[in-house]
Amino acid sequence: MHQDYILPDPWCIIEEGFDPKRVTRSESIFSLGNGTHGGRATFEELYSGESFQGSYIGGVYYPDKTKVGWWKNGYPEYFAKVLNAPSWIGINVYINGEPLDLNTCATVRYFRRELNMKEGVYRRTFVVVLHNGVEVAVKVTRFLSLSHDDLGAIRYEVTPLIAPKGEAVAIRFEPYLDSGITNHDSNWEEHFWETDETKLTGQRAFITTHTKKTDFKVVTFQRTEVWSGEETIIKPHHTDTYISLNYLTQVSVGDTVYLEKFGGYVSSFKYGDTDLLTIAKERVQAVVNLGFDGLLAQQQHDWAAIWERADITIEGDVKAQQAIRFNIFQLNQTYLGGKGLNIGPKGFTGEKYGGSTYWDTEAYCMPFYTATKNEVVARQLLEYRYNQLPQAIANAEKLGFTGGAALYPMVTMNGEECHNEWEITFEEIHRNGAIAYAIDRYVRYTGDRDYLREKGIDVLVGIARFWAQRVNFSEEKQRYVILGVTGPNEYENNVNNNFYTNYIAAWCLRYASFELRALSFEESEVRERLGVTEKEVQGWLRIAEEMYYPYSEKYGVYLQQEGFLDKELKPTSVIPTEQRPINQHWSWDRILRSPYIKQADTLQGFYFFEDDFSEEALRRHYEFYEPFTVHESSLSPCVHSILAARLGKEDDAYWLYLRTARLDLDDYNHEVHEGLHITSMAGTWMSVVEGFGGMRVKDGKLHFAPILPKEWQGYSFKINFRNQILKIEIRGQRSEGREQRSETRGQRPEVSFEVDKGTLEVVLYGEVVKVEAKSN
Ligand code: BGC
Repeated sequence: MHQDYILPDPWCIIEEGFDPKRVTRSESIFSLGNGTHGGRATFEELYSGESFQGSYIGGVYYPDKTKVGWWKNGYPEYFAKVLNAPSWIGINVYINGEPLDLNTCATVRYFRRELNMKEGVYRRTFVVVLHNGVEVAVKVTRFLSLSHDDLGAIRYEVTPLIAPKGEAVAIRFEPYLDSGITNHDSNWEEHFWETDETKLTGQRAFITTHTKKTDFKVVTFQRTEVWSGEETIIKPHHTDTYISLNYLTQVSVGDTVYLEKFGGYVSSFKYGDTDLLTIAKERVQAVVNLGFDGLLAQQQHDWAAIWERADITIEGDVKAQQAIRFNIFQLNQTYLGGKGLNIGPKGFTGEKYGGSTYWDTEAYCMPFYTATKNEVVARQLLEYRYNQLPQAIANAEKLGFTGGAALYPMVTMNGEECHNEWEITFEEIHRNGAIAYAIDRYVRYTGDRDYLREKGIDVLVGIARFWAQRVNFSEEKQRYVILGVTGPNEYENNVNNNFYTNYIAAWCLRYASFELRALSFEESEVRERLGVTEKEVQGWLRIAEEMYYPYSEKYGVYLQQEGFLDKELKPTSVIPTEQRPINQHWSWDRILRSPYIKQADTLQGFYFFEDDFSEEALRRHYEFYEPFTVHESSLSPCVHSILAARLGKEDDAYWLYLRTARLDLDDYNHEVHEGLHITSMAGTWMSVVEGFGGMRVKDGKLHFAPILPKEWQGYSFKINFRNQILKIEIRGQRSEGREQRSETRGQRPEVSFEVDKGTLEVVLYGEVVKVEAKSN
């Protein structure tokens, strides 16, 4: 069973009614971020019920000493995690002396929250009756500014509706900063922050902190003001790690008193070793001059600009529309192109995965950022890995590889491996392939070959060298094999010849060779820089040529790994609903012995390398593997949805789309309380653009072959392709699948294009279409 309390709306995420059981889930769903920092939607006022508070600053991390049951050589010493940062959003409220707390108040009469994705603003309204007989209405508006990205703003309004004897009510606001916070996932219960100073100047407060070990300096700040018709008494209060101002005022029944708070962080990650306190003061002053409403207007304007580029519209299916916007919104909240930053699987919405970088970025996120932002942003993500090449080489050396072989980490913050489960750290090596694949995809999309020559080739060579050493020649098979790996499907460990891993390894070797030759490497500075020789390249090509792939003649499919057919091949439909997700109900050994696939594995290869396989082969593989796939990784349904769309399996494509798009809103995997699945949200975008829209880039041109799910009347999306913005609109008649459609042209949906400037040639269902800008 999945949850369904989020109300459908094309632009807003809405929750109505207060249910304490939903609090931690909604804290994730209503999270806010601005690419620089972000946090969960915890209440500003005190909440004594179950809550998971978290605010995170991009790039500010702590190396938490590794904790494992049994140490293995090669394990990393620490796990770098993004820290739960000092809190700036808190505002305790006391009404006639009684704390306002949704968990303990007498009655919650009304509760509604709404995340307006069009404007990037979160609003919460509620009416409660306190034990002292006062009934108050509260309205809170909060956002994290895009244009002033060090800070956010809160307006907190309180209106007494009923008071004993109708007398004026005493309201005390206590807006505060708190650096006495911890991470839930701290390995050794350590405090990661040291507080250096707390400081008050007028209505501004600052806490200066630094992280232990990594010594990131952060100034957390707030500037508050209360607007009341009555006199307000202000009293400061601070301890070593806490600083607040108390505003005490009176308000008559029916009148409103409100507090405005600007707050946020300046960090040495962003500003280097400068006087952060001065920067914080400047940041505060700039927004005080602008005022809350001025900042809000700018926010609406900035989000409008994002949507102008990135919006996807879906007509006739409000849940699908809401979901795709939620995905696009969250991706933009997480990463906007910040230097040295990347996209953690949970973004700024939770601690899991430590805010670190995974293969998710290259395998799933790159296409979204390349197409909805620009080349610079996409290149930045590639450069992140280029800059970490020395550490990738060191990671490989630690495991015994030599000569410049590079193994990129499974999980990283600064390039060093942080993961510490042997079956993943040492074995889930397919990640290296995705990093090379992203370079190819980027170059195909942008045509930027300079990147390859200057930087990309170094990464490709390091990766090729790794694969060349990781294979061994099997006398028995007379083929190269790759032993002891974990494929993308983490429900199998330490397997031999995982098809996906072998395939991507061979592809990397071929691709690196191809690009070296295209760069005439023997005569160029590339040879000098990397010391690569023709002999070495020939060795790579021989391995690629003679790579082994397990295959079943009986089923006509490549096997996910050797021995897959020994399993009891029962489809997922026999698993009782109450035992799903299996990772929360079954022992690990039972999972390992089962045929159940966590996420696209063989099919991930068919997705990446579709041109290498016939449609018939894809159909056989899809039909073989989909029935065993439990999609318990968020990264799975999107790939299956794209493949199903290509095969004209529109019903599958549609339910898999909904599953990826509403994964968090409907909490399919029963874990949304831990945070959102940010990286898979880019996969959702791909399901629309590459799946339903059938977009591919071939020979420097955009190709489309759209289908229209029967649940939709139409949809549209935009693509930034080589500095031209192309809008594609698909509407009208639907048909019975892509292949049938190509036979009966009349049944294709109507497709129209618009380009912002110049002329662009695109290929629609195999035919070239010239799109001209209106202004031409
Ligand atoms: C998936 C990995 C993924 C990681 C972070 C895991 O559950 O199996 O493929 O990289 O989550 O999203």
